[in-house]
Amino acid sequence: MSSRSDQLQAKDRRYLWHPYTQMHDYGGRELLLVERAAGTRLYDYQGRAYYDTISSWWCIVHGHNHPTIKARIQAQLERLDQVLLAGVSHEPAILLAEQLVNLTPAPLSKVFFSDNGSTACEVAVKMSLQYWRQSGRPDRQGLLALERGYHGDTIGTMSLGGVPEFHQAFRHLMFDSFRAPAPDCYRCPAGKRPPAEDAAGGGSAGCDYQCLAPLAALLAEHGEQIAAFILEPRILATGGMIVYPAEWLRRAVVLARQYGVHVIFDEVASGFGRTGAMFALESAGVVPDFLCLSKGLTGGCLPLAATLTSDEVYAAFYADYRENKTFFHGHTFSGNPLAAAAALGSLQVFGEEKTFDTLPQKVQHLRARMERFRELPWVGDLRGLGMIAALELVKNRQTKEPFAWAERVGWPIYLAGLRQGLLLRPLGNVIYLWLPLSVTLAEIDEISERMWRVLSDPANIVGFGNG
Ligand SMILES: Cc1ncc(COP(=O)(O)O)c(C=O)c1O
Repeated sequence: MSSRSDQLQAKDRRYLWHPYTQMHDYGGRELLLVERAAGTRLYDYQGRAYYDTISSWWCIVHGHNHPTIKARIQAQLERLDQVLLAGVSHEPAILLAEQLVNLTPAPLSKVFFSDNGSTACEVAVKMSLQYWRQSGRPDRQGLLALERGYHGDTIGTMSLGGVPEFHQAFRHLMFDSFRAPAPDCYRCPAGKRPPAEDAAGGGSAGCDYQCLAPLAALLAEHGEQIAAFILEPRILATGGMIVYPAEWLRRAVVLARQYGVHVIFDEVASGFGRTGAMFALESAGVVPDFLCLSKGLTGGCLPLAATLTSDEVYAAFYADYRENKTFFHGHTFSGNPLAAAAALGSLQVFGEEKTFDTLPQKVQHLRARMERFRELPWVGDLRGLGMIAALELVKNRQTKEPFAWAERVGWPIYLAGLRQGLLLRPLGNVIYLWLPLSVTLAEIDEISERMWRVLSDPANIVGFGNG
């Protein structure tokens, strides 16, 4: 008689197709089958524990199965499971919208719910385009994004993405948009030292933000035709955990504003504390016209997304029906009551557990623990922001030569991580931790120690002992 785990593995292979997964990798190999989770850990059917070092795709905030969030979902389930949000409303959506507006800076004052990060961004883009059409500027229909940016996998957000590895097959379907180079302090095109990293974002003598020149030139030429500039504030996550200075962000926003271009901050990944502040925008003291949220919005346990915007944008859509200014966009589960209840629970936990009181110490601790990785000859760069720490592996530290995509440097590291009880998910050559805010100092010690065992062993590194 095979075990439950064996039966499920067999059925998985037979029926399931996993996202962002080359299924061939699992032809002869078991995948991690998670039976339950608690706090920072996942447990398989054999009872083995794995640290969820990537917060289950960057969404878990207060740990898995948080009792407060669970209780809010359970209570909501007794009253209302689902109802459409078109022309109908419900208490969790209303209260959550109020709290989100209170949490974010003015002029963000209206909340439009959807159900995932891609749609949160797509909503912002569509709202901006329609705003200009209805505000006497139908010529403003261009969109601007960053190379190495990532906003989702719908055709619209792929069109604004800057990670061609993922979306090449669909190039013919994507619409054209403007692209500016991303900041990249590790491979600074001007060969400058990165700016000193301080909360206020001040630069050092080494950097004069020359890398903003292409953006400035692009805006000077096309700014008047551009509706919106979408970017991930402070960290291009999927693009390689590229952390960049607050001052770069501040200057980029000022440039866009000079030409009246809407600014869309995609905080789908960075929102809800991950960067050390509730929202990454806080570090730069700038406010977008649209703010996209998802992932951590519910504490990470149910799908929900929100796009926040201003009264000014809202007003451009507010008219007699016959003027045809309605925003015709919606999803079946937009603002689902259970998900909204979970989000209210997550915000309650932020308050009750005073998450931001203990976070700075955890951030410092994580940073200190990561320092030793710099000594490994295959570590080119160590970067971090809040509860995110990333190591870029290179073939040659002096030349910064990257590993080729086909060398798949992350794969043996992923497998070695599992053997150490760590769920890592390398992003190309970047090995990172994206920890829940609830992680303890002792857990940071344990996770970084296990990660050290994985990464300090040349047998796990392509070209240095492996492959
Ligand atoms: C910054 C950013 N925007 C948008 C998305 C897309 O979110 P989703 O996967 O929920 O569609 C992601 C997902 O990783 C993201 O990191």
